Amino acid sequence: MSVYLLYVCMLFLYRPTGELHGPMSVGCVAGDGQSYILFCDFFDRVIEAYQNHKISKLQESDFNHDNLKGGDDFDRDYALSCEVSVVRGVDDFGFPTHCSRGERRQLFMLAKKALDQLAEELPGKLYSRAELSQDKEDKGVTVGAPSLSQLRNGVARDWPDSRAVWISKDGTLVVWVNIDDHLRLVTTRDDANIAEAFQCICVNILKLEALYKKLRHPFIWKQQLGWVVSSPADVGTGLRASVRVKLQHLPRHKRLEDVLRRLRLRMDNTDCSEVYNISNAQTIGLDEVGFTQLVVDGVKLLIRMEKRLEGEEKIDDLVPLQK
Ligand SMILES: *[C@@H]1O[C@H](CO)[C@@H](O)[C@H](O)[C@H]1NC(C)=O
Repeated sequence: MSVYLLYVCMLFLYRPTGELHGPMSVGCVAGDGQSYILFCDFFDRVIEAYQNHKISKLQESDFNHDNLKGGDDFDRDYALSCEVSVVRGVDDFGFPTHCSRGERRQLFMLAKKALDQLAEELPGKLYSRAELSQDKEDKGVTVGAPSLSQLRNGVARDWPDSRAVWISKDGTLVVWVNIDDHLRLVTTRDDANIAEAFQCICVNILKLEALYKKLRHPFIWKQQLGWVVSSPADVGTGLRASVRVKLQHLPRHKRLEDVLRRLRLRMDNTDCSEVYNISNAQTIGLDEVGFTQLVVDGVKLLIRMEKRLEGEEKIDDLVPLQK
């Protein structure tokens, strides 16, 4: 008999002053993929409210990176770096909030098998969390202690058992295993070439999808929800495309909130002042290419606006219609 648990964790909505569109917590996570079906009355409403998307039509997937227009052509005086990441849940296992230690270890073994095969084409190595902190060589990846929200929602149970990071030799791809989701693929680039970053994610997520299918544990996909993962804030594509942009004037402009809403983008303040992290605000309703295209086009427009403001010109005619 299977018992499905629903974890509803009320997290504090904490917005430090100065943060424009902070990552306001969605407030809940699912115990497993089936929770989204069993408790659809709850989760559908959360997704609709948080992601501003009516769940009715079928979610589609598009990993054909050739369909992306631009992304290798940002003005480098403004765009500093970029990151594309994607999360996945594996069928038949509870999500990290709820899975047993045995399940987590099985997930680790599955990831090891799949990533060993991936490494035949893209050399890389899987490090357990312990190995990573012992290794003196800097891999550019740090696995910190669990965060407050991970402690609260159960993700940090048995920490650091079966948590691991796979890092490609060339540094282009990092895969996190058993952290907030079963798998998280991340590509970061210092040249802000998001077209390349997106291509790297597309190529490798397709390979991993095929490998997991062969291991008889496909990634969880539901027709109306797309890729199903722990957080309702990531359901759909599980994709975040982000660009770090240097902006001095635009963040203080009175129409900024309105512009970002219309572009369907989010803008977070980073550690350094004047550098903002711009990313897709939603993950459901468009496909992977669609969301990345929103970020590419949106960042270009925001940079154009910034340049206008530098020259003390108006930006009103650049304000777009709702995307
Ligand atoms: C930018 O924001 C996105 C979306 O929240 C996140 O996934 C990414 O890690 C952030 N990038 C940096 C460099 O902080």
